[in-house]
Amino acid sequence: MIQFREVTKTFGSRTAVNKVSFDIDKPMMVGIIGRSGAGKSTLLRMINRLTPATSGQILFEDRNILGLKGGMMRRWQRDCAMVFQQFNLVPRLDVVTNVMLGRLNGHGTFKSLFNIFGEDDVRTALTALDRLGIVQEATKRAEELSGGQQQRVAIARALMQDPHMILADEPIASLDPMNAKIVMDALREIHERDNKIVVCNLHTLDTARNYCDRVIGMRDGFLVFDGTPDELTTDAAREIYGANESFNEAATSTAIDAGQSGSQESAGAMTPAAAAV
Ligand SMILES: Nc1ncnc2c1ncn2[C@@H]1O[C@H](COP(=O)(O)OP(=O)(O)OP(=O)(O)O)[C@@H](O)[C@H]1O
Ligand SMILES: [Mg+2]
Repeated sequence: MIQFREVTKTFGSRTAVNKVSFDIDKPMMVGIIGRSGAGKSTLLRMINRLTPATSGQILFEDRNILGLKGGMMRRWQRDCAMVFQQFNLVPRLDVVTNVMLGRLNGHGTFKSLFNIFGEDDVRTALTALDRLGIVQEATKRAEELSGGQQQRVAIARALMQDPHMILADEPIASLDPMNAKIVMDALREIHERDNKIVVCNLHTLDTARNYCDRVIGMRDGFLVFDGTPDELTTDAAREIYGANESFNEAATSTAIDAGQSGSQESAGAMTPAAAAV
């Protein structure tokens, strides 16, 4: 489905992504891990052309998407929807309009300018919000929602684009463990029910292990690990994070240790919900 061929990005003398090659040949949930600065965001942003690649190819169904221009490029950007750590909603707009903004790429400029959405758009947006369990918030301003709710609005907006794949850059990094679980469950459910590729940059090892079918590890711009969660042993994690023998997996865990803070309850290990959203 999607093939990466020696994809490289340099910023001046710094190589952020260095000849990365791998294939995703069926719909799956892929987690990308690695320490800060490893090149995770740059890799994701090259896929949907937010960052231009320096060299290499990304082939989707045998077409090099790095060469697309104009309308074809915008079409591709709609096909791979991004979800960001900071949600990127319009705070003063209501929730349902924020979701419908996912459709703007699909309308002509005139329609976009006047911000006119059809009844169908409203219906589709409400269905997406319902699926994410927040349809009751549809008329509130985005800024009135909690972080976890805002991220679900952002995912609904991504669904509104009816994308081939969802690219999520640290989607739970700003959320508490409970909301992180809700958001990860939602992404997993979208992969399972809609059979879509979900690629997710994650800071935490346990989240990657619990939610992803495959984990890619990056270090200093290089792809240094590509395997199943089972293959992601402590030694493999050490190699990815460039840590020594004292590497402690707990340092990359999302679970709150109840013993350390009397006022906080432990969310326990974050695992996918048995019954999806
Ligand atoms: N716009 C830019 N201009 C210059 N250098 C950049 C730019 N964006 C990223 N870099 C550099 O590229 C490297 C990879 O950055 P990137 O943001 O992809 O890492 P990351 O793995 O996503 O890190 P984090 O976990 O902190 O989000 C870093 O050295 C970073 O400083
Ligand atoms: Mg990043």
